[in-house]
Amino acid sequence: MTQKETLALFSIRPDKFAGLSMVLGRTFQIVPLSESATADDFADQPISAAVVDGTPYRTFSREARRTLRSRPDGDRIAILEIVDPEVLNDPESVEDDAPANQMVASGRSTAAMLAAFWQACARREEQNWASEHESVSAAARQAKQAFSILEDITRRGTTDDPAAAREMFRETARLIARASGLRKSQDLLRAIETHHAYTFAHSLKVATLMTELGRAIGLTETDRVLLAEAGLLHDVGKLMVPIDVLAKPSRLTFDEFETMKTHAQLGEELLQGLYGSRPEIAIAAGQHHEKLDGSGYPNGLLKTQIHEIGRSCAIVDIYSALTDRRDYKDPMSSEDALAIMRPMAGAKLEERLFEVFESWVREELAE
Ligand SMILES: [Fe+2]
Ligand SMILES: [Fe+2]
Repeated sequence: MTQKETLALFSIRPDKFAGLSMVLGRTFQIVPLSESATADDFADQPISAAVVDGTPYRTFSREARRTLRSRPDGDRIAILEIVDPEVLNDPESVEDDAPANQMVASGRSTAAMLAAFWQACARREEQNWASEHESVSAAARQAKQAFSILEDITRRGTTDDPAAAREMFRETARLIARASGLRKSQDLLRAIETHHAYTFAHSLKVATLMTELGRAIGLTETDRVLLAEAGLLHDVGKLMVPIDVLAKPSRLTFDEFETMKTHAQLGEELLQGLYGSRPEIAIAAGQHHEKLDGSGYPNGLLKTQIHEIGRSCAIVDIYSALTDRRDYKDPMSSEDALAIMRPMAGAKLEERLFEVFESWVREELAE
């Protein structure tokens, strides 16, 4: 069982945050801290997020923020501060030697606090991404290189240097995962690679194509890294599908297919707890086999019930599966894959996204 991340709650009245704690408790282990138990008591334990209550005493919350920020992991902690409404109206009064990532006025609803909390997490991650700008572009470069080798393998069934190709996939996966600043993605990928090498290579291809689709629809670098990570982890639920089903060289029986189908739901559940601040990652895993007309699994969702990231991942996943070489089938050419997918556009796959994807494939990958 993976351990939950820790959220520190600094308040002299932690009971004020019962609603927030109840919701966030599904994702985080919540540790209430006060003057008697401080962040120093948790020096050995990583803290990923904190809610700091600056009411009624702002000196209390300032001390709490300073203690948090001075920890070795201090820059990585997403801090939400609860402040008196007048503090928000008077930004001059906000001292910033250990700033929160987001502030919200006291007395707001649980939903408003929750929204502010996720904003604090998003801002923290943007800052980390900005400071790791180098590794983000290195990841994109590597992914492109690895992808051309992958193309080579899927087209010709071989590459000139398989050992180097393997090493490159591993390196690319590591870089994409590092770009998000989260070690747990790398741990999950390592587990996927050990469990089923094909799923690992497939996940990397999906991640690369997702990133490229993101570029084609004009998303920011931050969003493209999110797509890359969602792509890398979309099939993580296959870790819980027995290897004899995953690697079966012939057609699956009805029961085996039912077992295979569980990977979507299982993956979503696994990722929900791990990526609370970026729910899209879990959604992509849970929805990448859903179809607009309700014929997909696990929930038979319809059109707008499917999140955009789920719709994107569905397109990329099908294309990727068709163009991959498996023990039991030759890889299909890009053109043939697109020809199979074209009739699905509008009915099963989102037309607009498919068209963008199709023209990107034609430009980039056409022989
Ligand atoms: Fe899948
Ligand atoms: Fe997949």
